[in-house]
Amino acid sequence: MGKALTVVIVAVIAAVIGLFIYLPQLSNDPSSTNRVSSGTTETCRACHESIYQSYIKTGHFLTSQPAVRSTVLGSFDEGRNVVQSQIPALSFKAEARQEGLFQITTYAKEKTFTYTRPFDVIVGSGERAQSYLFWEGEKLFQLPTTYVTTKDDWIISPGYDTWVDDWERLPNKNLALFYQRPIGGRCLECHASAITPTTTPIGFTFRPETLEFGISCEKCHGPGADHIAFHQENPDQEEGAKIVNPADLSRSQQLSSCALCHAGQGVAVTPPLTFRPGDEIAAHRYYSKEEKKKLTVHGGQVPFLEESHCFLESETMTCSTCHNVHEDQTDQIELFSKKCLDCHQSSHADKPELATSTRCTDCHMPNQQATNLTMFHNQDLFFLSMANHRIGIFKEQ
Ligand code: HEC
Ligand code: HEC
Ligand code: HEC
Ligand code: HEC
Ligand code: HEC
Ligand code: HEC
Ligand code: HEC
Repeated sequence: MGKALTVVIVAVIAAVIGLFIYLPQLSNDPSSTNRVSSGTTETCRACHESIYQSYIKTGHFLTSQPAVRSTVLGSFDEGRNVVQSQIPALSFKAEARQEGLFQITTYAKEKTFTYTRPFDVIVGSGERAQSYLFWEGEKLFQLPTTYVTTKDDWIISPGYDTWVDDWERLPNKNLALFYQRPIGGRCLECHASAITPTTTPIGFTFRPETLEFGISCEKCHGPGADHIAFHQENPDQEEGAKIVNPADLSRSQQLSSCALCHAGQGVAVTPPLTFRPGDEIAAHRYYSKEEKKKLTVHGGQVPFLEESHCFLESETMTCSTCHNVHEDQTDQIELFSKKCLDCHQSSHADKPELATSTRCTDCHMPNQQATNLTMFHNQDLFFLSMANHRIGIFKEQ
């Protein structure tokens, strides 16, 4: 039996076992098993004002938001609000109306057909891109256009771009087919804090009003109600109590907390939104060897870092060695180079300009294209790029 086939079978078995494990839990009380949170980031603010102030500027906090004019980065202005597909008759337009923001798909040949859906939810801070979702009853679907920051423009969402020609060959030009990509719990597990699913165990129906936008403090620190109650009753207590401080967890638990969202899609062993800080990721998700090898736009940093010599030979390295997730550290290359020098004072002894470089990561963690996701802007292929977390010596040097 081929290796790939074995992986597929193992994955299917894992998924089926997963279903059986979580069916009974869900039928009992979905709200108790699926909400990590006893409140929002706002509830931590009273006593952690400075962390709160810097945290709300991070990609984590801004990674999902309600869609309104000020949060949607794509333009609604005439002349900049239309994406033309490769078929002249088919285009997608963003329109701001009194009642809200809408997307209108138009197919104009002998007759003109249109299909309109609202912008309800934004996924992605816009550091790189934003995707948009809309509610239909208890289901969430993705809109067929995406905003890409490097192009400062709309594009047709990945997957639909290459499918347009096939779509036109269908006997019935059904525009609704562009609006049937369902959003499951896993997408929200990585890009939001909480949502209450309704009946189905696969996790595709939710109570819309329970969606908690952004990644809350509790996503990494666990439920905070007992902690807050304790400190309200004991205002003189200076040591934090009854809350997870990741710094006190084992290395593997710390990595697991980030791996929930930074190790790739994986296959479910438990239902989405049941992971709690302190858990081991292996108890919740299964990752194939093939998946671990690919540089992806959806968070493959953990398996990459784990293969680097820095990680394997240092015993202490975790994500927190370099990142402070309470702050926006985007493009602070110099800060990261200082972290390298904590362990590598004697590297490049013969080349002073490298030994004192403030850009170690340019060569040892280069930005590379994530070719797993193909995108097109005006029919031109492009990719997003990511820092390669397999720290090492790269061939192209
Ligand atoms: C009523 C005040 C209060 C509120 C509200 C509060 N905390 Fe704290 N927290 C404290 C105090 C006091 C400490 C100890 C001093 C410090 O580390 O800042 C602490 C410490 C912590 C620690 C470090 C614990 C350790 O073991 O070192 C974490 C993590 C934490 N809080 C997270 C949170 C989160 C998440 C929330 C919101 C769910 C929250 N706190 C809300 C008062 C509060
Ligand atoms: C609940 C899912 C989730 C968890 C848990 C999580 N991340 Fe993220 N992380 C994301 C998402 C989603 C983004 C992209 C945010 C955006 O839209 O820009 C991100 C972005 C980042 C970034 C890029 C900078 C930024 O602020 O946008 C860093 C660095 C990062 N995460 C590190 C970590 C580390 C370290 C941990 C563990 C301590 C961690 N993350 C835990 C989901 C998560
Ligand atoms: C993406 C995961 C993540 C999120 C979200 C997050 N933290 Fe943390 N937090 C950590 C990690 C990891 C540490 C331990 C850092 C270390 O190893 O020193 C930490 C440490 C802390 C501490 C201990 C003292 C300190 O400054 O290191 C406090 C207090 C704290 N967090 C509060 C908060 C509050 C309040 C929020 C929301 C406004 C929040 N955290 C959001 C991951 C997170
Ligand atoms: C396994 C967790 C995970 C899942 C599932 C996931 N994402 Fe992401 N996504 C991330 C992380 C992490 C990033 C940040 C880039 C990185 O670190 O790879 C990201 C980045 C993005 C970005 C770019 C944000 C920015 O500005 O940098 C968009 C848009 C996005 N995701 C949309 C989605 C949508 C829509 C879904 C579901 C249909 C989804 N993602 C599913 C983890 C996930
Ligand atoms: C916690 C300590 C630690 C940190 C931080 C650290 N490394 Fe390392 N690194 C090591 C250890 C240990 C090794 C293996 C022994 C050696 O080659 O020095 C290593 C190996 C390397 C190697 C050789 C890799 C190979 O495949 O042969 C390079 C290159 C490297 N590190 C670069 C960096 C850069 C660049 C940074 C900062 C982005 C960094 N390291 C941060 C501990 C660390
Ligand atoms: C040795 C230092 C180091 C360690 C350890 C490290 N990172 Fe990074 N990380 C970086 C650098 C450097 C960048 C690129 C920063 C930039 O270009 O803005 C980066 C960028 C990121 C980004 C932004 C998207 C991207 O890939 O460019 C995410 C997300 C991220 N790291 C997550 C993680 C996670 C999760 C871990 C733990 C598995 C981790 N990092 C461990 C140095 C580190
Ligand atoms: C211009 C690209 C470049 C920059 C910048 C750079 N390196 Fe390197 N580094 C290399 C190359 C190429 C090698 C392998 C050949 C060699 O040893 O010169 C290497 C090797 C290494 C090694 C393994 C061999 C050894 O000397 O231990 C470490 C560790 C290392 N670099 C760390 C760093 C650190 C830390 C910085 C920043 C202060 C840095 N490098 C900046 C290109 C670079």
